[in-house]
Amino acid sequence: MSGPKVAIVGAGSVGTTLAYALLLRGVARHVVLHDIDVGKVRAETLDLRQGLQFMPAAHVDGSDDIDVCADADVVAVTAGAKQQEGQSRMDLAASTTRLMVDLMPRLVQVAPRATYVMVTNPVDVITYVAQKVTDLPPARLFGSGTVLDSARLRGLVAQACGVAVQSVHAYIVGEHGDSEIPLWSSATVGAVPVIELTTEEQRAQMAHDVVHAAYEIIAGKGATNYAIGASASRIIESVLRDERQVLPVSTLLSGTLGLHDVCLSIPTVVGAGGAERPLAPTLSEDELGGLRAGADSLRGAARRLGF
Ligand code: LAC
Repeated sequence: MSGPKVAIVGAGSVGTTLAYALLLRGVARHVVLHDIDVGKVRAETLDLRQGLQFMPAAHVDGSDDIDVCADADVVAVTAGAKQQEGQSRMDLAASTTRLMVDLMPRLVQVAPRATYVMVTNPVDVITYVAQKVTDLPPARLFGSGTVLDSARLRGLVAQACGVAVQSVHAYIVGEHGDSEIPLWSSATVGAVPVIELTTEEQRAQMAHDVVHAAYEIIAGKGATNYAIGASASRIIESVLRDERQVLPVSTLLSGTLGLHDVCLSIPTVVGAGGAERPLAPTLSEDELGGLRAGADSLRGAARRLGF
């Protein structure tokens, strides 16, 4: 089979929605699902496969055997505990860390050439742990980070300003979670700064709504899946098509913006080489302070988990 192979680890709501997005968008020629729940992975594989006639040409396989991921070009890791109502992403850290310590080295053994996109939460801590247990080059293993949060923010700015979301340029940086930072100082609609088009009160409300977006969805339907699936698909497309999109993915930083030994999101060029190059904007003093505080708390979380 010629064409790229994407392996998705975890056939839960995020993993399967990602598979569906990849197939609908014709991103991969071969999509495989791996999950330890044999009944679930078989059922999800059959359901996806039976829709293939209506999508760009592709194949779907699934197995509880990790070997199904062999020689994948991209491995997306979505396996892990699900955030429950009342829990923060960070509350999942201990159980998902134990899972990654076991899973990641085995994955790298079967798919040694792959670019790894971590999606499991808390994604920044999980990306850091995965980095430590695999020792892959940081460009080749990164997290979905705040790509989704930035999309959420852009959607709200677009609504507030009455413009298309594609005409909004705005990033959320830092943790994919409660300490994330909207970069208002560099946000624009077309070429006009967002701070000239919105009030401070509007911006505070938008920032609040982005941080609470997942909580609201989890309260209503128990999980988030469509937007994270679509955004993870977009990240993988940028890798497989060497698009060099600037996306706020979570990478191991060594000096960018004065940050070291922590995984968090800043705008990064994503292409065939993975998370190729951070492209850090100039931050206001408040933004930089917030980012440093978020980095300290993420580092603290990793230390408490033994990393
Ligand atoms: C969300 C999950 C992916 O923000 O953390 O929807």
